[in-house]
Amino acid sequence: MRRRPSISASSSRARIGRVWLVGAGPGDPELLTLRAVRALEQADLVLYDALIDPRVLGYAPRAQRFCVGKRAGKASVAQETTHALMIRAALAGKRVVRLKAGDPFVLGRGGEEVLALGHAGVPVEVVPGLSSAIAGPQAAGIPVTHRAMAQGFLVVSAVPEEAFFRIVPASPPAGLTVVVLMGLGARAAIAGGLTARGWPSSHPAAVVLGAHTPRQWSWTGALGELAPLALPADRADLPGIVVLGDVAHLGPRIASATSGFSLSNVEQRHGTA
Ligand SMILES: C[S@@+](CC[C@H](N)C(=O)[O-])C[C@H]1O[C@@H](n2cnc3c(N)ncnc32)[C@H](O)[C@@H]1O
Repeated sequence: MRRRPSISASSSRARIGRVWLVGAGPGDPELLTLRAVRALEQADLVLYDALIDPRVLGYAPRAQRFCVGKRAGKASVAQETTHALMIRAALAGKRVVRLKAGDPFVLGRGGEEVLALGHAGVPVEVVPGLSSAIAGPQAAGIPVTHRAMAQGFLVVSAVPEEAFFRIVPASPPAGLTVVVLMGLGARAAIAGGLTARGWPSSHPAAVVLGAHTPRQWSWTGALGELAPLALPADRADLPGIVVLGDVAHLGPRIASATSGFSLSNVEQRHGTA
């Protein structure tokens, strides 16, 4: 049953605020949507994830700002606490932006948050964002589809690993790109598990760290090189994406064809496969 706020019916319309669940895209503030900027400009309170670029918060000059996000190995605010903070602020008349990396509905618990707000009677609008699942590979020159190589793509989380191996096909799928989010730490397990199932160690692979941020780094190689791949020590804090599929090998060529138009300081490294 839908729970309504406990304030009187006559005053509730005037006093209830609202929540925008906003996708901030992969990093660069220039990849925010106009609607995201408008919501941020109006916000009284911004509850943001750990991956949000600080420059994005600059679009909410009037707002109180709290980080409620988590990164691997660091303490985080419980999901229920985030729900409670949004609901309490909105019922007190505040305009709340819940700011998430990428798109709120791609591996971001956005659906849960909308349902919790709806259950509490809080008006909520979802503002989609550019997902790192597509914009991340793109930043390294990798198109997730290509007419001759990949007619579709699968976005999958590597957390938990069992779910990854349940979802990803047991033999290497022809014409499918696999984009793995939250998979950097599990890259050895991913590579080992897939080759044990029969994926060739020559299967094209790529890694993109900090896509669309000034510290972006990428690598192109093969599945067999993924486990021993040493990531740059000075970028251990960056989020990353693993891409598996023939399109990975297009990365260096497309990146160099488009590099004249790059807005960020992009470093590329190419493997030997
Ligand atoms: C909890 S998921 C959220 C995904 C997000 N909702 C989206 O649509 O991009 C976090 C993961 O997204 C990926 N990610 C997000 N931003 C990234 C970026 N700028 N560069 C590389 N990977 C990124 C990483 O795999 C990270 O572990």
